[in-house]
Amino acid sequence: MTTVLVTGGTGALGRQVAAQLRERGADVRILSRRAGGEPGRVQGDLNTGAGLAEAVAGVDVIVHCASASDWRRSERDVIQTRNLLSAVGRARPHIVYISIVGVDRIRFPLYRGKVDTERLIAASGLPWTVLRATQFHELILLFAMLLSKGPVALTLRGFSFQPVDVGEVADRMVDLALGEPAGRVPDLGGPRVESMADLMRQYLTAARRRKPVVRLPLFGKGAADFRAGHNLLGPGADRGKRTFADYLRDHAAADGTIAAPYELRGRFQRYPRASARPATARKRFQQRPSRKRSAR
Ligand SMILES: NC(=O)c1ccc[n+]([C@@H]2O[C@H](COP(=O)([O-])OP(=O)(O)OC[C@H]3O[C@@H](n4cnc5c(N)ncnc54)[C@H](OP(=O)(O)O)[C@@H]3O)[C@@H](O)[C@H]2O)c1
Repeated sequence: MTTVLVTGGTGALGRQVAAQLRERGADVRILSRRAGGEPGRVQGDLNTGAGLAEAVAGVDVIVHCASASDWRRSERDVIQTRNLLSAVGRARPHIVYISIVGVDRIRFPLYRGKVDTERLIAASGLPWTVLRATQFHELILLFAMLLSKGPVALTLRGFSFQPVDVGEVADRMVDLALGEPAGRVPDLGGPRVESMADLMRQYLTAARRRKPVVRLPLFGKGAADFRAGHNLLGPGADRGKRTFADYLRDHAAADGTIAAPYELRGRFQRYPRASARPATARKRFQQRPSRKRSAR
């Protein structure tokens, strides 16, 4: 039986990777900073290195889905991965890492950290595989929720995305984890390229909300790289099947309620001071139609 450690196994991607690995007969450990009741959970912290030696002991494969995702401190992912690799010591597990399409072409601090992390893994001397994926539907939904809280819904002029279903990314990660080390493999993204404004409109329709969609200009090198489409799939990439519209259909209740896909911690602390009250943060971001509209 293959023993697999999934870092970030409590996150949007890692949860599905861990579940699918179990279905396919692997012995799965999940690394988390939080102790938990679920079977196989190992407590550890990639920032400090605490608990990592126990977490990696005897594993055949590490699926590395954890990320600090802190766009203000892009070096955090590199530090976390360095700590993970040093905990491995002389063992030689296959490390499978998830990165983001366009990280080497988009001048954005968080992406610089991802490129440095890819390089660290490739230079580690361990057998490795790296998959780059486009934005998950969950992230697009979160952007739409955050940017439509005011009287108008804000989008960025010239920005398009090719969002992918996280379950399809998990499928691929599991195939890679149970296969031979393959280095950098073809990128994976969603079936459609859609403008940010179109994605916002789809969200507003699913959430039964009506407000004008405004396209704002964004300046800077990173924004220019997004407008040039470097976050989209290029030739030779693989396309998933499920669209953002499919995702919304499955996640919106009949009254338009859609649960926030991420807890508002870490990277989103700049938005309402959710970090101070994590228990309520999720609730505050659940979007509901106004009473007036739902009464119609
Ligand atoms: N979201 C996207 O659109 C997208 C697209 C392409 C690639 N990716 C990449 O896919 C990966 C997963 O993304 P996601 O959206 O699934 O992430 P997520 O839901 O935000 O989950 C992040 C995970 O990282 C873990 N983590 C963070 N800091 C940690 C620490 N110090 N020690 C141990 N664990 C830590 C968290 O575990 P605990 O909180 O339980 O400790 C959590 O499970 C990331 O590398 C991301 O860059 C994401």
